[in-house]
Amino acid sequence: MKKFYLTTPIYYVNDAPHIGHAYATILADVLARYHRLKGDEVFFLTGTDENSQKNTEAAEKNGYTDIRAYLDMMSVKWRESFRALDITFDRFIRTTEDEHKSAVNKFWSAVEANGDIYEGVYEGLYCNGCEMFKTETDLVGGNCPLHKTPPKHLKEKNYFFKLSSYREKLLAHIDANPEFIMPEGRRNEVRSYVDKFMEDVSISRETMKWGIPVPGHPGSVVYVWFDALINYLSGVGYGSDEKKFARLWPADLHLVGKDIIKFHCALWPAMLMSAGLPLPTRVFATGFFTVNGDKMSKSLGNVIDPVKLAGRFGNDALRFFLLREIPVGGDGDFSTTRLAERYSSDLANEFGNLLHRVLSMAEKYFDGKVPLAAEGSVPQWAAYEKGLETLDFAMALDAIWEILRDSNKMIDTEKPWVLAKSDTDKLGKLLYLLLERLRHAGWMLLPIMPASAKKLFAQLGIPDEDRRPYEEAKAWGGLIEGGILQKGEPLFPRLNP
Ligand code: MSP
Repeated sequence: MKKFYLTTPIYYVNDAPHIGHAYATILADVLARYHRLKGDEVFFLTGTDENSQKNTEAAEKNGYTDIRAYLDMMSVKWRESFRALDITFDRFIRTTEDEHKSAVNKFWSAVEANGDIYEGVYEGLYCNGCEMFKTETDLVGGNCPLHKTPPKHLKEKNYFFKLSSYREKLLAHIDANPEFIMPEGRRNEVRSYVDKFMEDVSISRETMKWGIPVPGHPGSVVYVWFDALINYLSGVGYGSDEKKFARLWPADLHLVGKDIIKFHCALWPAMLMSAGLPLPTRVFATGFFTVNGDKMSKSLGNVIDPVKLAGRFGNDALRFFLLREIPVGGDGDFSTTRLAERYSSDLANEFGNLLHRVLSMAEKYFDGKVPLAAEGSVPQWAAYEKGLETLDFAMALDAIWEILRDSNKMIDTEKPWVLAKSDTDKLGKLLYLLLERLRHAGWMLLPIMPASAKKLFAQLGIPDEDRRPYEEAKAWGGLIEGGILQKGEPLFPRLNP
């Protein structure tokens, strides 16, 4: 059995999840479900990044004196939001867990034993929002361009990681493994950073009180990024369940946002090299999206709550829309009006109506039963699979919608209501073809719109269809002659205004 270990970034809990956070998590969920269907041993990790100054500041701002209580409350909120969005994570990690802390200890010691940690003084600028050191050239008008706030001046005794001594090895790895950093534009960006700008990095904080104490030096805490990246190891048993760790590591895919690609493709692989561990196979960076053309921000009041949105349109419609509308890897724009448009055009009309039309005809002409099996094929499987293997979600959706649109067209050109009077044999074959194609489309939709695919199967009279082995399901002829169809409610009912 092939294993597939994939991760999302772990999220800061200084606020509730917004649609941008839900995006990466939903993409990961689609892939997790797809690989499970194929029979792979999937491990899907997500969780919360809790040892950040942003979180402790948010706790104080919200009137919490007990930071731990704030973190507990917020972490539950994130986990429950992901559950509400139908995210099938296998583990939800928190960086305040003991298991994670001992993994960080083990990792730090390995890097230290390798001679890669030294003591020094850091003096410079630091942006709390990014949890990152800044140089004057990073700033716009004295502010961090992302957070629009001035960085703080910091001077403290820190431990440093010899990142720069991994420059050559990193470059060689990036060049030899084109799929390590995707999409390609990001690879070039990281390569040039590693080549020209990458310096040693401070990996401890003397002034911060919240965090994982540096092993052997309890006066300092581990820099939050050094700590957070290790979640990808502790999440699968590093330092606690070595058997599990050996089975699942290295990760097959880290899904991250484009703003954190350098941490994942420079610092992280160098840390792993230092600790003597294999590198993840692939890091894929997704773009950022705006809302109706604006950056999402509290002050603009345009922050979109994914759970509320799913409550209105349904999880499946939201998942479909994010995959359909935002070019993966690129930046995109989110608009609720576009979501409503896609809901009625692509989902209600092209998909829901097709099912309804086909089942109504089967009811009318064949007593609600699957007619005589007919020859056919679904050539779209190849493009669908290629799309999901390469994270080209648009390609996968195009393959499915080609089946649906072509089926709709076929009804219009073949005119079953005319055939009903002239050639019932041909009519039976046509209906079988349409029904069987819907079954295939249902399979392709299972990872993307799981609830709708299940409803589709129920209406085709095969409610347990998703239990069938994937390879068998892909073959033509899954629907059996005489099977009893169960026409039901529309898959995508009209939206309330
Ligand atoms: N805690 C770090 C990640 C540590 S991973 C070892 C972090 N957290 S975050 O909560 O700020 O962001 C998590 C992810 O959400 C990032 O990948 C980020 O790119 C993504 N997004 C945040 N806002 C976004 C949009 N507006 N649009 C798309 N993705 C966005 O960074």
